[in-house]
Amino acid sequence: MTPDIRRSTVQDTDGIIALYKAAAASGGLSRKPDEITHAYVGGFLKQAVEAGLSLVAVRDGVIIGEIHGWPMPQSQFAHVFGDITIAVHPQAQGQGAGRAMFKGLIAEIETVLPHIRRIELGCRESNARAIALYESLGFVVEGRLKNRIYDEAGFYEDDLAMALLVR
Ligand SMILES: CC(C)(COP(=O)(O)OP(=O)(O)OC[C@H]1O[C@@H](n2cnc3c(N)ncnc32)[C@H](O)[C@@H]1OP(=O)(O)O)[C@@H](O)C(=O)NCCC(=O)NCCS
Repeated sequence: MTPDIRRSTVQDTDGIIALYKAAAASGGLSRKPDEITHAYVGGFLKQAVEAGLSLVAVRDGVIIGEIHGWPMPQSQFAHVFGDITIAVHPQAQGQGAGRAMFKGLIAEIETVLPHIRRIELGCRESNARAIALYESLGFVVEGRLKNRIYDEAGFYEDDLAMALLVR
């Protein structure tokens, strides 16, 4: 069942914390579950609501996904939308929520942030699902940051710099 996609509000903070803790436990995010704090989620939600965008995916009244980001603050980079993070609850992954949220984010950027020309994100090389999603939306790999990510399992992996040019 396709979830409802809507703008986030600060009232969603607790639901988003629960979502990110679950997603962090199953891998893919750049934070471990104990790094998903109220300050972290409250901070990105405030910034996204005030200066960027945050969308949630809601199914049966429960937040099962969230995506956010914002334009860079400097005038020379103001056309760049970045700091994107997307998370879908592990039990809801692979059912279209990630694609629906990302398509919703791009549509919102084109509608309410018409000055944006570039959408960028980072993704670890082992995250095949996320890379497949981003490439299917038109993102291309522009760079590889060698050994940027350290996994507690004891290995380093590359972080891929990806971008989508819009308009
Ligand atoms: C990455 C993530 C956001 C994708 O969301 P999702 O809801 O699971 O993905 P969707 O069901 O919308 O699928 C989108 C695409 O992902 C790819 N995909 C889905 N399942 C996959 C799998 N098992 N293996 C490889 N690719 C897969 C496909 O290209 C799919 O496209 P399709 O719609 O044509 O099938 C989600 O899995 C997630 O939150 N993972 C943990 C956190 C994370 O990794 N965040 C991104 C950090 S860069």
